[in-house]
Amino acid sequence: MATPSLAPKGHAIIERSTALLFMFTLMVMSIGGLVELVPLFKLETTIAPVKGMRPYTPLEQLGRNIYTREGCYLCHSQMIRPFRDEVERYGHYSIAAESMYDHPFLWGSKRTGPDLARVGSKYSNAWHLAHLEDPRSVVPVSIMPAYAFLKDKELRTDDIDLHLAALTKVGVPYTAEMRAKALEDIKAQASGENADALLARYPKAKVGPFAGQPGRITEMDALIAYLQILGTLVDFSDVRLEGKD
Ligand code: HEC
Repeated sequence: MATPSLAPKGHAIIERSTALLFMFTLMVMSIGGLVELVPLFKLETTIAPVKGMRPYTPLEQLGRNIYTREGCYLCHSQMIRPFRDEVERYGHYSIAAESMYDHPFLWGSKRTGPDLARVGSKYSNAWHLAHLEDPRSVVPVSIMPAYAFLKDKELRTDDIDLHLAALTKVGVPYTAEMRAKALEDIKAQASGENADALLARYPKAKVGPFAGQPGRITEMDALIAYLQILGTLVDFSDVRLEGKD
């Protein structure tokens, strides 16, 4: 005699049919999935806008590419976690809006060197130049490699318009004017001369001279311009975070 099933009658039918069990499981899972996904389609952005955030200047963006190319993120994170020791050392913890224009993200996961999310304005342009040329000249115990060769490499700018166009496609709000003036902005930021229009388009941009070679724009200029803006765009005395007064 077969053992009577303890499950209610309907349930027993489902449990004994692989096809039915599979179908109902799928149905229950998709309800859960829809509840999570559908609201996201109704939102314009999942990141709360924060005052002060702007796209990178063309020079900062090119510097960011060099940071990526050289693998700086393998030793440096750009993500301050909301823990007391981190906040006391580096400043306000990182918020989502701060990397909303980052393609790709450079949060990193390893800290051989310190976090760089708020390194902007911490040192002078001259300090960064000395440090990148020979880290041990300013930090005697440093194990960071030297990047002096960046000073000899001419910055490639001929494809900047295509680059900004690609970033616009993925949601970075570069305007037609920003794209048209990209080369002028690179020159103004690197030299520090006639930078008013640049600063109107990109508030708080740090201007050169960076690598101190008048008439020449090198990868070193771009990298320092990028480092100097990190973490400086949002004024945290001004930000009201959700759940905090
Ligand atoms: C092999 C690991 C390593 C790599 C790769 C590396 N760094 Fe570093 N970096 C360090 C270490 C260690 C320190 C701390 C000692 C010092 O200040 O030199 C440091 C310090 C720094 C500092 C100073 C941070 C502060 O708050 O004092 C900056 C800026 C910096 N690195 C930028 C860069 C950039 C830009 C690159 C890529 C071009 C890079 N690093 C690549 C290990 C690395």
